Amino acid sequence: MVPRTQKAVFVYEVGKPVRLGERDVPSPKGGQVLVKVAAAHLLPHDAYGRDWGLFIGEKLPFVLAGSVAGTIKELGPGVTSFHVGDRVFGTSNIDYPTPDQAGLQEYAVLQTDSMALTPKEFSDEQMATLGINVPTAAVALFTGFGFNFPSPWSGDFESFDFSSLTIVVLGAGTNIAKLFIRLATRLLDVGRIIAVASLSNADELKEAGAAHVIDRHISEESVIAQVHSAAGGAENATHLIDCVTWEHRLATKIMARNAASRLVTLQPVDEDKVREQRPLCKPVLVENLNINLGEPENFWRELPRWLSIGVVRPTAFKTLEGLDNVGEINRQLDEYAAGKGTPQLVVRP
Ligand SMILES: NC(=O)c1ccc[n+]([C@@H]2O[C@H](COP(=O)([O-])OP(=O)(O)OC[C@H]3O[C@@H](n4cnc5c(N)ncnc54)[C@H](OP(=O)(O)O)[C@@H]3O)[C@@H](O)[C@H]2O)c1
Repeated sequence: MVPRTQKAVFVYEVGKPVRLGERDVPSPKGGQVLVKVAAAHLLPHDAYGRDWGLFIGEKLPFVLAGSVAGTIKELGPGVTSFHVGDRVFGTSNIDYPTPDQAGLQEYAVLQTDSMALTPKEFSDEQMATLGINVPTAAVALFTGFGFNFPSPWSGDFESFDFSSLTIVVLGAGTNIAKLFIRLATRLLDVGRIIAVASLSNADELKEAGAAHVIDRHISEESVIAQVHSAAGGAENATHLIDCVTWEHRLATKIMARNAASRLVTLQPVDEDKVREQRPLCKPVLVENLNINLGEPENFWRELPRWLSIGVVRPTAFKTLEGLDNVGEINRQLDEYAAGKGTPQLVVRP
């Protein structure tokens, strides 16, 4: 029996700690299902939501966590592609006007074009780590909000050869970077990935597909020299994704001077500043709106298969039981705000 009301963790005021509250259990509309939330992934942007109002400031009080896994309890009108009792995972739409799709509550609705069945060998917690981060990596690779390479579901996919391509990945210690590298090497066969990260990530990054792992803690000049050497020359640094910084200073210095290039960023980028130094560089911000995947159901249809063949793997996480320990949720958000917070937190409402 689905109850009428439920516990939820709210941002009531921007810049203030989140607090436990109560709200109605939402009803699924057409194209939606109601899910009993088993796991919700808390991410760095949830800290920006709490502290600056990112994505949610106009809609308060709001509930955080957009990556959700659980079991379907009700189907919205006309839904035939999923069934009550299915274990599923998915992403909430950041433009949705109400907190109905958020994860820090007991029941949430998901859109059927933004979710997939959970493969039986994976847990809800593992799946919750993927709902936002894999679409983000896919948008970075396969759309104009990224490198714009052909996607596996596009007709001309097979005719491209990426074996001579080099991609430099800055902030390669982030979960999104690790997923990006897996997709780039396993789906596109990209020839050479140069990852810059703390060396504690080296084994994981090499397993993901990086050909070179460069220590991000050496001097900037040394990082640039090592990246250019690994690329076989500065002129080959034509494709770079910066997964973490806001100023993109190092990224701009690494980019090729005399060749057309593309700088993909996960944080907003000052295009004029980049172009002042690298006039031939096109900076692009990844905007992980599910809609930017074109026909998003193509991506969500592929994702369970990618999991089963090891293209994609859940990322590291720790678990928090229940919604009552709001202090722990605020502590994790504080860590994200300070640029830390790994392993990331999966909450089991
Ligand atoms: N644009 C979009 O649509 C979109 C979507 C989702 C997320 N994002 C953003 O993408 C970023 C990455 O998210 P995530 O969840 O993957 O992050 P994450 O896993 O929490 O990243 C943590 C890692 O970041 C690395 N790091 C921290 N500060 C760094 C610095 N100054 N330089 C280089 N590396 C640094 C550290 O790696 P080491 O181990 O190397 O020290 C740390 O382990 C976040 O800022 C998030 O807000 C953007």
